[in-house]
Amino acid sequence: MSFLPVLVMGIILFVITVLLSVADKLLVSYGTCRITVEQDGEEKNFDVEGGANLLSYLIDNGIEISSSCGGKGSCGYCKVQVPEGGGPILPTEEIFMSRQEKLRNMRLACQVKVKNDLKITIPNYLEVVSEMAAADKFDTSKRWFVRIY
Ligand code: FES
Repeated sequence: MSFLPVLVMGIILFVITVLLSVADKLLVSYGTCRITVEQDGEEKNFDVEGGANLLSYLIDNGIEISSSCGGKGSCGYCKVQVPEGGGPILPTEEIFMSRQEKLRNMRLACQVKVKNDLKITIPNYLEVVSEMAAADKFDTSKRWFVRIY
């Protein structure tokens, strides 16, 4: 049994992945994007150089978003409402969303790539946890914390 074809195919896929990542970083420019955040009835705006994920921009601008997977898209805790500019929901997000959440344009902040101006609303995380528990999508084995000020 020869592993050579599998090894060659793996190397080819790795090289293609690296080339696409480099091309995305060097050749694609999304320019300056304005992110408008509504939280607890207050609105905040900030401008960013597009291209990274929404979660990183929110954290960089002092907006706390729950996350236990570090932005890998595996915990489902970084839900925000993106009524404008988020594009279609990704298959990686769908498993964490109920039908009602999809209708309300809820997204995982770590999966939304900022390519244009965005308007988002930070939800009340107690409601997010309640909906996840009601939809049987709350994994109690994952770390979860809620800060109440
Ligand atoms: S940070 Fe875990 S899914 Fe987004």
